[in-house]
Amino acid sequence: MNAPARVPRHIAIVMDGNGRWAKARFQPRSFGHNAGRKAVRDVIEGCVRQGVEALTLFAFSSENWQRPEDEVSALMGLFLRALDKEVDELHAQGVRLRFVGDLAGFGDELRQRMERAMARTAQNTRLQLNIAVNYGGRWDIVQAARQAALAIGRGELALEALDEAMLGRWMSLAELPPLDLFIRTGGEQRISNFLLWQAAYAELYFTDTLWPDFDQACLARAIDDYARRERRYGRTSEQVAATVPPR
Ligand code: IPE
Ligand code: IPE
Ligand code: MG
Repeated sequence: MNAPARVPRHIAIVMDGNGRWAKARFQPRSFGHNAGRKAVRDVIEGCVRQGVEALTLFAFSSENWQRPEDEVSALMGLFLRALDKEVDELHAQGVRLRFVGDLAGFGDELRQRMERAMARTAQNTRLQLNIAVNYGGRWDIVQAARQAALAIGRGELALEALDEAMLGRWMSLAELPPLDLFIRTGGEQRISNFLLWQAAYAELYFTDTLWPDFDQACLARAIDDYARRERRYGRTSEQVAATVPPR
């Protein structure tokens, strides 16, 4: 008998391949980034339909500031426009929006709009949507370590009490279900400094599909693939078979 379908509780996606998608159409890279918006909407809808609890999208990495200036400013413009246009719809769908990353790296206008969108959707529970911007996995570990050091310095935490679980509480997304499925589109098989800590036991899924072409059907394929994986967490297959799955 087949095991019951397992839906990942938390999915993260490296939305890669916009530039190549545009290049294949003899268009500027920003054309590909714009086209990627449709894929974002579709995947959000797919997650809501399938009952995924949290979705974390990599929109701009700490390293992406090194892109050509016109591409960076096109991306910032796109974020602003998307914030203006999409937040009402997300709110109506019951999506809670969070931006994760070093938001201090953005201009006041963009940062304030991000903060307003987060506050506005804070009570929503249907899908926890996290957009990683100016995010890096190493930055995340450092900011958590700094907070731990501050707590130790203030005498609120004993050094001996600082273990993986404790440091994990200061990592981004700590309040959400653990990351189950890590997807990267665009054909590259690397993490590119995305969720290093959180991906420790995530299932990895790579597809050649370029991000603007990714849709609900592609998402469903990734989820099907995930459902067939055996998550052993260091144990043996026999041990796993003998335990009742969490859901
Ligand atoms: C990902 O697509 C989007 C961002 C990094 C913002 P790319 O722009 O990296 O597209 P490719 O990899 O060049 O095709
Ligand atoms: C990772 O894609 C970042 C985002 C998708 C936002 P990149 O295209 O920047 O990654 P590398 O440079 O190919 O590793
Ligand atoms: Mg890329």
